Amino acid sequence: MIKRFLPILILGYSTLTCAQERNGKTVDSHIDSLLSVMTLEEKIGQMTLYTSGWDVTGPTLNENYKEDLKAGKVGALFNAHTVKYNSDLQRMAVEETRLGIPLLFGYDVIHGHRTIFPLPLAEASSWNLDLIKETARLSAKEAAASGLNWTFNPMVDIARDPRWGRIAEGSGEDTYLGSLIAKAKVEGYQGDDLSDPFTVLACVKHFAAYGASQAGRDYHTVDMSDRVLRETYLPPYKAAIDAGAATVMTSFNELHGVPASGSRYLMTEILREEWRFKGFVVTDYTSINEMVPHGVVANEKEAADLALNAGVDMDMQGGVYNDHLATLVNEGKVSEKQVDEAVRRILEMKWRLGLFKDPYRYLDEKRELQVLFSKELMDHALVSARESIVLLKNEPYNNKKLLPIANDVKSIALIGPLGDNQIDMLGTWHASGDANKVVTVLQGLKEAFPKAKITYTKGADFMGSDKSGFEEATKNARAADLVIMAVGENHQQSGEAASRSGLDLPGVQQELVEAIYQTGKPIVALVMAGRPLTIGWMDENIPAIVNTWHLGTMAGKAIAEVLAGKYNPSGKLTITFPRNVGQIPIYYSMKNTGRPFDADSKYTSKYLDVSNEPLYPFGYGLSYTTFEYGEPKLSKIEIKEHENLTIEVMVKNTGEYEGQEVVQLYVRDLVGSVTRPVKELKGFEKISLKPGESKVVTFTINSDNLKFYTRDMSYRVEPGEFLITIGPNSAEGKTAQFTLK
Ligand code: NOJ
Repeated sequence: MIKRFLPILILGYSTLTCAQERNGKTVDSHIDSLLSVMTLEEKIGQMTLYTSGWDVTGPTLNENYKEDLKAGKVGALFNAHTVKYNSDLQRMAVEETRLGIPLLFGYDVIHGHRTIFPLPLAEASSWNLDLIKETARLSAKEAAASGLNWTFNPMVDIARDPRWGRIAEGSGEDTYLGSLIAKAKVEGYQGDDLSDPFTVLACVKHFAAYGASQAGRDYHTVDMSDRVLRETYLPPYKAAIDAGAATVMTSFNELHGVPASGSRYLMTEILREEWRFKGFVVTDYTSINEMVPHGVVANEKEAADLALNAGVDMDMQGGVYNDHLATLVNEGKVSEKQVDEAVRRILEMKWRLGLFKDPYRYLDEKRELQVLFSKELMDHALVSARESIVLLKNEPYNNKKLLPIANDVKSIALIGPLGDNQIDMLGTWHASGDANKVVTVLQGLKEAFPKAKITYTKGADFMGSDKSGFEEATKNARAADLVIMAVGENHQQSGEAASRSGLDLPGVQQELVEAIYQTGKPIVALVMAGRPLTIGWMDENIPAIVNTWHLGTMAGKAIAEVLAGKYNPSGKLTITFPRNVGQIPIYYSMKNTGRPFDADSKYTSKYLDVSNEPLYPFGYGLSYTTFEYGEPKLSKIEIKEHENLTIEVMVKNTGEYEGQEVVQLYVRDLVGSVTRPVKELKGFEKISLKPGESKVVTFTINSDNLKFYTRDMSYRVEPGEFLITIGPNSAEGKTAQFTLK
């Protein structure tokens, strides 16, 4: 029961309800009236987020969270879900605390809640913004039905080092594409109106530049120039905020020598002053506490001081606001006004979600039953999984391409630890994904090729050196017409705290592939991982390679449909695949250097032992059909600032299958006051063409697309010559040139 303050509360709720239907100003004044009755301790409680104890990725600092909750010391919880579980907690907050302020429930709904979609890096390969937005909308719907109202996503960290396991959670290496995807995800999660109970708050993370952790080692140092920060790393966060992201999560890393959770430059100057962000900032887990080992504060009290003064509103799991903020206020180190501002931002989000109107609006068991794993979700999981698959190689074996597999194939030997595997199809951060619902590759193949004899042998594990399974695998391979190898990483080999110093197939899987290769049988390799793997040997020796990532609940069905030619693969990589780890960082938008590669000159920028070229470039992916590109046609060869230039290119399907192609436009600014990348993605369009069909794709360029941080750090366009390349990936294409006067 709400005790002493019931009248105030009812007044608070009903007026907030009316305010919701009226205007923002009224909301402010009613949050004011709540603030006026809150004790300092209750305010700090609103700034505290604890885990329920499930799915913990670090120390659980507060096991007695229920007691704290009842004492008004906790405003939000994460890792608590299901309507039943969260209803009890919400009831405690609403009925057993003095003011009855409802809780926020957060969770890492990264690529689905219970129905799991492909990993974000995989789904980015679809280059399909509508599809990505729909994934976010459906993830929000399922999460909301399960009692959640806040997802810790989108993760928009640009990452160019596949040793970093968290590369799986983002969209890859490119700023332009990453920004569009960030926007699509926020729009998908939050919809048009947060008070719609099928939407959740988005949380853009990890602010900032976490993807540039040195040597790809997780939680490691980040250091870069402000130019690179602003030009390459910040735009996706900004795009998410411009799209209305309600919350921002800090990152674990330091930047310019200051841990992000203590960086006023990031959390206040950039976020609030430059970008006008109005939502609230939450730490990533215990990153406030971690400022002590970072060495910028001597103790957690100083950490609380630094974080609050930097602009951090909510402490996730660290407990330092709870432990120290009141003392800091009493000592005058932080003002109560600062605390009030943080609380106001948090309460405003609760209000925008409609929680003051009805704290139980996300807690409807009937709705939960209807939505979880519903057809709408499962169908989309299949659509998205298909579009995320990237065909890397499809060369003839005995004069005939292996893919798509002929309908009348008699026997298939499926080999590898990912062949009949449910849990690993879900990939990293699979929230409450249910492995039992996963369609495995074996199940998918059986459905797609009902007449074929299909054997399955695991052959090897993801770790260790046990080769005892090789014999049976080889025997089965010999007995079959076709071998399909399902190799790669398990779901824990990429993601948080899953950095790797080598990117080869883990365990003895490479040896397994080589042993099967010795049988002389035709092999199709399925590479399943949360990051690019160094698969040079396979590229040289295996005729067909399909990169399937970790595709989620419908993985096996989507893969089988691609193998059977029921779906023509259309994915294109959004991350460069290196030949070896020594090439890292390797990304398409590099600089030319003063000594660009020249095969005939030793003293040019290159290696003695490996080429400069990646194994597969950014934007790369094959289809069962072929496309031919015409010459780009420019509307003018000279434009003035603010004038539009249109570029048309004819693309023709010259093969035998209907297929989709991602037509990509790259620009190079040939001379700048600072050096410019050799190529930058500035546009793309995914088109579908029937055999023999052609389409004209039109792109528009204007000075806005050509701006950059010039030598004096002003963001503007500089006149000069620009080279355009339009093609099927970042390494190929047809060029044209224009001048900006
Ligand atoms: C730590 C991770 O870095 C972050 O991405 C996640 O949202 C939080 N833990 C909460 O689980």
